[in-house]
Amino acid sequence: MTTVHTIAVIGGDGIGPEVMTEAVKVLDVVAEKHDLRFEKVVYPFGTDHWLATGGEQGGETLPDSAFDEIRAMDAVLLGAIGDPRAPVGLVEHGVIMRLRVGLDLFVNLRPVKLYDERLCPLKGKTPADVDMVIVRENTEDAYTASPEFSAKGTPDEVAMQPMRYTRKGTERVIRYAFDLARKRNRSNKLLMIDKANAVRAQDLWTRTFEEVGTADYADIERDHAYIDAACMWMVKNPEWFDVAVTTNLFGDIITDVGAMIQGGLGVAASGNIHPGQVSLFEPIHGSAPKYRGQNKANPVASIMATSMLLDHLGHAEASASIEAVVARLLQDNTIRSLSAGVQGTAEIGDIVAEALA
Ligand code: IPM
Ligand code: MG
Repeated sequence: MTTVHTIAVIGGDGIGPEVMTEAVKVLDVVAEKHDLRFEKVVYPFGTDHWLATGGEQGGETLPDSAFDEIRAMDAVLLGAIGDPRAPVGLVEHGVIMRLRVGLDLFVNLRPVKLYDERLCPLKGKTPADVDMVIVRENTEDAYTASPEFSAKGTPDEVAMQPMRYTRKGTERVIRYAFDLARKRNRSNKLLMIDKANAVRAQDLWTRTFEEVGTADYADIERDHAYIDAACMWMVKNPEWFDVAVTTNLFGDIITDVGAMIQGGLGVAASGNIHPGQVSLFEPIHGSAPKYRGQNKANPVASIMATSMLLDHLGHAEASASIEAVVARLLQDNTIRSLSAGVQGTAEIGDIVAEALA
């Protein structure tokens, strides 16, 4: 009997719904080929929904009833959230952060892989040089601390939002990264990226990395870089990177650098993961409101998110088939660009779907 996976699909804002349509198109083709079954539940959440349900007067971002439904599903595919018609960060918090934190998706997994030399902005770097995974902690740090303002609007105003780390939160993501370095079996090295020289609270990361590594991962070499230097090395010598683990905020920043060296936000995908539980997969790019509804956005990153979703659900072969096809279509120039507007959103979706079928 074929297992049926229930998947929540949240298109979100801007180009999100369009790229999700193509991701689902590809998922359907792969499911057919690999004898898998997906039941998709499409949700309307995003800024349109927030506005339609009242906006500033109590508009809905992600209601409890939907959250409870999603919690019982197998995975979530998310397009993008962000729209200038809502206050900065409001819908992002209500949907993305609610799911990341509420579902305890403590790993933000961001592979950085170059599929063809022509896509890389770095001189002389080839696919052999760019193949790494950044493991970003996803439930702590300044991201989940409350902002505090005192004497707001006066010359004496003070604003803060602490970088807060727990031992448990730090340890579980470090263990995940060690396991991944072992599983990849490439350099058998794990790089920890922090800023413990300036942010002394990150001494917790230093100690945990050391303790866990010594006790349980003696076969994995430990390496360390400060975030500023890591950004520099990633551009200068990406071939030095294999698996790296870092905090939420630094991981957000360095994975945009990573996205650029693999060809841009048009290809970069990510998984918000809790091993063994419902997890969320999304392109790293934003909602690009100016391209909304124009069939210009490139859906490759969302299609790659679908590949990550399949891998998470244990369908390694189906997952790899998407990656292989996308890589080939980029290499032979059938997908001519990862930028918006070169080929239509639906056209690229059809190309990938046909190649897979
Ligand atoms: C990302 C995004 C989000 C983040 C935003 C939209 C809140 O930049 O997924 O990297 O900062 O985590
Ligand atoms: Mg980001």
